[in-house]
Amino acid sequence: MAIVKVPHLGRTFIMPAQIEIFLASIGVEYHRWTPAAPLSLDAPATQILNSYAAELENHKRAHGFVAYDVIELTPETSGLDEMLARFRQEHWHDEDEAHLIVAGRGVCHIHPVGRPVVMVELEPGDFLSVGREIRHWFDLCSERRLRAIRFLSQSNHIAYTQSGIEADYEPVCLGPAYFAYRPSLRPSASASKAA
Ligand SMILES: [Fe+2]
Repeated sequence: MAIVKVPHLGRTFIMPAQIEIFLASIGVEYHRWTPAAPLSLDAPATQILNSYAAELENHKRAHGFVAYDVIELTPETSGLDEMLARFRQEHWHDEDEAHLIVAGRGVCHIHPVGRPVVMVELEPGDFLSVGREIRHWFDLCSERRLRAIRFLSQSNHIAYTQSGIEADYEPVCLGPAYFAYRPSLRPSASASKAA
């Protein structure tokens, strides 16, 4: 599941229901999607699309998308560095931008007008739709691997803000280790003595 951080407010969200509500408040749709049948990491694209057929069709129809497909990025992908260099620059689109992560991890920074930047770390099963004209940028985590279902719209318009703000935010992915180390959930030594 996703991890959401708002560095300037010192806030972190890890519960899907909290994440859904918080992101909705800044114009971003988030859900956990479960495949109809378990998928292996190297499942063929047709099997992936069939596993989410109902959700994909519903979302496509409800939001005016024209199609969806499966994209894959790996360190061997031709032109990956150039592609990431473009994704990493703050930009916006005149249509919603929606993806479901199927394998791998990535991090999307979202910058709503007049509000602090929000970092959303995504992993398999996370569906994220950034609303039209909302400024954002994207990067892969250190493994540089991602498979995702991408919704396609009529327009491929991208507007770069040229703000350079992305340079202030390292795309550090916290990953599963973040959930393994939760000191606040463990009784401290002093608390044990007091008891
Ligand atoms: Fe984008």
